[in-house]
Amino acid sequence: MSLPDLDKLRKDFEEDLSKSKDKTSLEELRIKYLGRNGALTSLMSSINDVSPEEKPQYGQSVNKLKKNLLSLYNSALESSKSKISTDSKSEIDYTLPGVAPLIGRKHPLTQTWEEILNIFTGMGFDIERGPEVETEYYNFSALNFPENHPARDMQDTLYITENTMLRTHTSPVQIRTMLSKKPPLRVIVPGRVYRNEAISARSYCVFNQIEGLYIDKGVSLADLKGTLIYFAKQLFGNNVKTRFRASYFPFTEPSAEMDISCVICKGKGCNVCKHSGWVELLGSGMVDPNVLRNVDYDPEIYSGFAWGIGIERTTMMRYGINDIRFFYDGDLRFLEQF
Ligand code: DAH
Repeated sequence: MSLPDLDKLRKDFEEDLSKSKDKTSLEELRIKYLGRNGALTSLMSSINDVSPEEKPQYGQSVNKLKKNLLSLYNSALESSKSKISTDSKSEIDYTLPGVAPLIGRKHPLTQTWEEILNIFTGMGFDIERGPEVETEYYNFSALNFPENHPARDMQDTLYITENTMLRTHTSPVQIRTMLSKKPPLRVIVPGRVYRNEAISARSYCVFNQIEGLYIDKGVSLADLKGTLIYFAKQLFGNNVKTRFRASYFPFTEPSAEMDISCVICKGKGCNVCKHSGWVELLGSGMVDPNVLRNVDYDPEIYSGFAWGIGIERTTMMRYGINDIRFFYDGDLRFLEQF
């Protein structure tokens, strides 16, 4: 035995190592060189064949070589673990249950909004949109709001200039649509609206509405009721009860609010309906002849009805949500429930 034998062994090891890519062949390599009966052990035991003067150096060299080979082996083993093997001896256990990928979902407001739009487009309504920054004329005057109506007040309306504001409802799009189209028309208008209100569990300074407008010859209050009752049953199920209560809006005459039986307690009385069994769903009415005149529609020939529904309120009623702020907090624990 001599030192050149050590060099040869190292070369052989390196050559074998370069061919050993997976755990099994690395294990074979380890046994062949580093195992109890491996090449290194036999090199160690052949120290007896070495001349006494060479013994110390020989011993040191073998030890150094052993350390060296071990560390080469260990790092090859590490990197074989981090590689995903694609051959048939792969270490992946395909029978393990997988990790489900995280799938996004639609915001509850978007879900309600899309369902409402689907119901009305199914009845032949077209979708219209309008600007969120409005003028006094479209937001109030053309809709027959008297000059001194409290809704025009700074307390409700977020004014931008004396004459422009963030729209307080989607109703101005009624005017824009009637000015740009000839009757008959059937439109629904989804959109964001703004009010200068303190934020609380019940109110927010920005929310969403869907406006509806139907104008034709001979449209009557019966059409309004038929359409809106059908809508409520589509959205809340056939068993929902409806009732109309006389109300007031400047742009409709007569005006009515539509209530539905509380979907949470089925009319028995709970916190959501304040124990009355009923919740208000929307505002509606027959379009005021003054509004028709403002857009040059002849009220002697045409009549129609309109309504406005709040998306947040409707979604709260559907699911018994008691705080409007949940919709805007972006808390996944809330959102993942829908
Ligand atoms: N614009 C009303 C509001 O924001 C809602 C409304 C009521 C719209 C009656 C209508 C309607 O079109 O006929 O409170």
